[in-house]
Amino acid sequence: MEERKVVFSGVQPSGALTIGNYIGAIRNWIDLQDEYECFYCIVDLHAITVPQEPKELRKNTLNLLALYLASGLDPEKSTIFIQSHVSAHSELTWVLNSISYMGQLSRMTQFKEKSQRSEANLNAALFTYPVLMASDILLYQTDLVPVGEDQKQHLELARDLGERFNSKYSETFKIPEPLIKKVGAKIMSLQNPESKMSKSDADENGYILLLDKPDAIRRKIKRAVTDSIGEVKYRDEQPGIKNLMNIYSIFSGESIENIEAKYEGEGYGKFKEDLAEVVIEGLRPMQEKYDYYMKNKDYLEEVYKNGAEKAERVARKTLRKVYKKVGFIPR
Ligand code: TYM
Repeated sequence: MEERKVVFSGVQPSGALTIGNYIGAIRNWIDLQDEYECFYCIVDLHAITVPQEPKELRKNTLNLLALYLASGLDPEKSTIFIQSHVSAHSELTWVLNSISYMGQLSRMTQFKEKSQRSEANLNAALFTYPVLMASDILLYQTDLVPVGEDQKQHLELARDLGERFNSKYSETFKIPEPLIKKVGAKIMSLQNPESKMSKSDADENGYILLLDKPDAIRRKIKRAVTDSIGEVKYRDEQPGIKNLMNIYSIFSGESIENIEAKYEGEGYGKFKEDLAEVVIEGLRPMQEKYDYYMKNKDYLEEVYKNGAEKAERVARKTLRKVYKKVGFIPR
């Protein structure tokens, strides 16, 4: 039997998730489970590149696991685990650091943005963050990495590091490809349609959280920035409306053309009201399942323990090869 191709992806447990995380990433992971060997990780090591309250980090990690399950990730099909449980991620990072160029790392857009924002906490982990991400991916001999647009450059780096290692020491890593959807790979802020919807936005009206209550969703969509054109049309000079139409289309399954036709001659009021209901209904099943999983902590523990064991076996195999190739003596 031909071996199944491998998928790897992860989300940081750094607080509540936005519908951007869901649309750009998690939602696309579900269908891959039947066809691929999938590894879905909660990347807690990445989360500490910005200050974290230990108690909050613990809570956010479990919350994210419950959200994974509530979204439809199935531990019977996929390996679902917590990054810090598999030490090979940190160990490979050290080795890959030794072939990472400072120049290339300092050109990473996310590093540049984050370092500007947090000059007081310009720690070394923030700088080598993409090397850890490359390790995540390369350890599992990954073929495909389903992510949002903002991770594209990090994926390029993972490919570079894999190729560099292979050519320096001989074939070791599979070189991964990004899987970035055409629609929804970059959901924009509701308050500023020129910038990405992000959970670190200071203005909470800029984002919708996966666990937002119906009232909050209605309020945020009502306040969403649009334009003075007043037509529900999908075009670049109406970035706010374009973004809202993308969200509408993804949650309802309706095509953009359909949506345009439906709101022909209508103002933004009715469109926004309907959009709020579409999002509320789209999130409802997940929110209900989330509550169920949060009440079953024993089950969550069972899932992450089994996941860590499975991931560990695969990751160790790659790390053993790497250690041998660089010249470390096996114990
Ligand atoms: P993170 O936690 O910032 O985001 C998780 C995923 O959500 C996507 N995303 C978005 N997609 C569309 N529109 C948005 N507004 C939006 N905001 C976020 C991100 O592209 C991402 O796919 N470094 C990664 C986590 C990571 C990882 C990995 C991913 C660590 N190791 C290995 C893949 C493979 C990150 O910070 O994602």
